[in-house]
Amino acid sequence: MMHERPILAIEGLSKSYPTGFWRKPVRVLSDLSCEVRENEIVGFLGPNGAGKTTTIKILNRLAFPDAGKVTLFGGRVRDGADVRRRIGFMPEQPYFYEYLTGGEFLRLCGQLCGMSPSKTESRSLELLAKVGLSMARGTAIRKYSKGMMQRLGLAQALLHDPELVILDEPMSGLDPMGRMEVRGIIRDLKAAGKTVFFSSHILSDVEALCDRVIMLHKGRKVAEGRVEELIGAETLYIELVVSPGLSADRLAAAEIPPEAGFAQGALLVLRAPDSGQANRWIAGLLREGCTVLSCVPVKKNLEEIFMERIENPSATGAAS
Ligand SMILES: Nc1ncnc2c1ncn2[C@@H]1O[C@H](COP(=O)(O)OP(=O)(O)OP(=O)(O)O)[C@@H](O)[C@H]1O
Ligand SMILES: [Mg+2]
Repeated sequence: MMHERPILAIEGLSKSYPTGFWRKPVRVLSDLSCEVRENEIVGFLGPNGAGKTTTIKILNRLAFPDAGKVTLFGGRVRDGADVRRRIGFMPEQPYFYEYLTGGEFLRLCGQLCGMSPSKTESRSLELLAKVGLSMARGTAIRKYSKGMMQRLGLAQALLHDPELVILDEPMSGLDPMGRMEVRGIIRDLKAAGKTVFFSSHILSDVEALCDRVIMLHKGRKVAEGRVEELIGAETLYIELVVSPGLSADRLAAAEIPPEAGFAQGALLVLRAPDSGQANRWIAGLLREGCTVLSCVPVKKNLEEIFMERIENPSATGAAS
């Protein structure tokens, strides 16, 4: 069930970092406002250097903004340990004590967040199985591959059964099977009533998983909205598949310009610019005795929308 209550609210966040010899401040976040509601999966998108990790660090109090505020669970970030305990966080490049085994590392994490030894043990076993690391439980982390580290980072983030899970690039470094497994874990979290906020470059994962997306470019929000709204708002054309193919004369009789279609085997594929045109063409085709096999609105995918907003953020604005 979707709730409207924001579990995470970011308001007017700005951040500069001093750069170069003169320590000149460079803005990396500019007046960023957005929110994540209870039980949503929200994707945080943006090219390299957009400010995703900086935002996520601020949410986890690993960096501090110059202006703006973050409200978690309806209270300010500085509300402290109680709020922290309700959040799971996987950093972009998780750091581990390499001489520990995966199992020992999770035991340490459990101790640090005040979990009982028995609870830590049972959760560790459950999560190592979930991320596909059961066999590597007793292996020293220095022998782990990049993908195995990423999986351990995810297990660590979920160990204390947090309500809000913040993941910085959870799919990076994973093979296709690993990505599929992580997608499954994120879906399971939602099904268990949790809220997930994650950054990613893999737009197909975001499109398949997220209720909403927030797109960032050069520290500014260029779009925020439900995936189907962002995609749904922009139909490219309506594709009609017609049987049988038509001669130029019959196309003309159906009042369809020849350049609107192309043959695909024994079929004819037409691209109507809008639904009105599609309807007129369908009427003409039926008059000509054709069968319309399908009529499908073709939408932009998230990738196309993302590129468009990045190239021209002011044209479309940041829909909330
Ligand atoms: N500690 C720092 N000191 C100075 N500049 C920084 C620091 N951390 C980040 N930056 C700069 O801030 C900008 C945003 O970086 P950030 O890591 O937030 O981007 P990102 O969206 O996570 O990118 P990526 O997709 O590559 O992970 C970059 O230009 C980066 O160089
Ligand atoms: Mg990053």
